[in-house]
Amino acid sequence: MITNKRILFVGGKGGVGKSTTSSALALAASKTGKRVLLISTDPAHNLSDLFHTKLGDQAKEVSPNLFVMEIDPEKESERYIEQVKSNISGHVKATMIEEVHRQMDMAKTSPGADEAALFDRMTSIMLDEGDHYDQIIFDTAPTGHTLRLMNLPEIMGVWMDGMLERRRKTNEHYTQLLNDGEPVEDPIFDTLQARREKFAQVRTMLLDKKQAGFLFVMNPERLPIAEAIRGVKTLQSHSIPVEGIVVNKVIPDHVDGRFFEKRKAQQVKYLEEIDCAFEGITQIRLRLLEEDIATRDHLDLVAGILETAAV
Ligand SMILES: Nc1ncnc2c1ncn2[C@@H]1O[C@H](COP(=O)(O)OP(=O)(O)OP(=O)(O)O)[C@@H](O)[C@H]1O
Ligand SMILES: [Mg+2]
Repeated sequence: MITNKRILFVGGKGGVGKSTTSSALALAASKTGKRVLLISTDPAHNLSDLFHTKLGDQAKEVSPNLFVMEIDPEKESERYIEQVKSNISGHVKATMIEEVHRQMDMAKTSPGADEAALFDRMTSIMLDEGDHYDQIIFDTAPTGHTLRLMNLPEIMGVWMDGMLERRRKTNEHYTQLLNDGEPVEDPIFDTLQARREKFAQVRTMLLDKKQAGFLFVMNPERLPIAEAIRGVKTLQSHSIPVEGIVVNKVIPDHVDGRFFEKRKAQQVKYLEEIDCAFEGITQIRLRLLEEDIATRDHLDLVAGILETAAV
């Protein structure tokens, strides 16, 4: 069951219903007495609007047992750089500090820096907060972002291995030349090593079917389906388990009128396509409601539908 996963990622194309689905699932789980943390990682956050309260980068309890936070990739990146700067300042010569800071500021503007910092924060949450919550649900940014994020532990792992190796060689040199063969203490090596281990741990967690799962949301329309198919393939190629799909905004049968008859006919075709493309993956259908989902009552309604679909 999807709802049993300790860590759940909800992804899909823009506007398909990721925030709605993840919020409804989080609300439903919290009502069963589970302590749930719902996290938005999309820079264009909308959980504040959905829960009608101001949210930030610290968890806030919005209803009993339901904690919500919005983390901002750019802010995480700034915070991360500041943290590294202050960590390093004790370990490099005063004359070098300016140069190191200049390099760090440059690193901040390099491609992928914000995502790396975001992933670092997500990693910390998964590893450190795991014990405080029964379930952590990530409402992610549209697909491309998220998939890159899933690749990061691997890419960063390789990159960090390279850094560690270089550092080790330098230390070895230093040990032999200057330290009479005594091993040198290297706090930077230790920090890198610790980060490497954190990434490896999280990777194992993400690959563990019992612990983590990915839920794709789509609508019965051409582009959202195409994006979900690509997403599922990419995740599977990384051995990341895809637990289920939510087909949202399905026009109900009882809706009539010429316009809707045509749309429904088209929808039948797309629903068949979905059945075929995602064969073997749990599928939940969520009907298009009369109104936008903007209140707690609406969320309860969606949560009820998801529950009866026995996810
Ligand atoms: N089943 C539904 N019936 C009616 N309206 C819906 C339904 N699901 C979602 N909506 C509405 O569609 C809009 C998009 O939903 P939502 O914000 O959950 O999507 P999202 O995938 O998180 O979007 P984004 O990519 O922008 O974060 C919202 O206005 C929401 O209220
Ligand atoms: Mg959203």
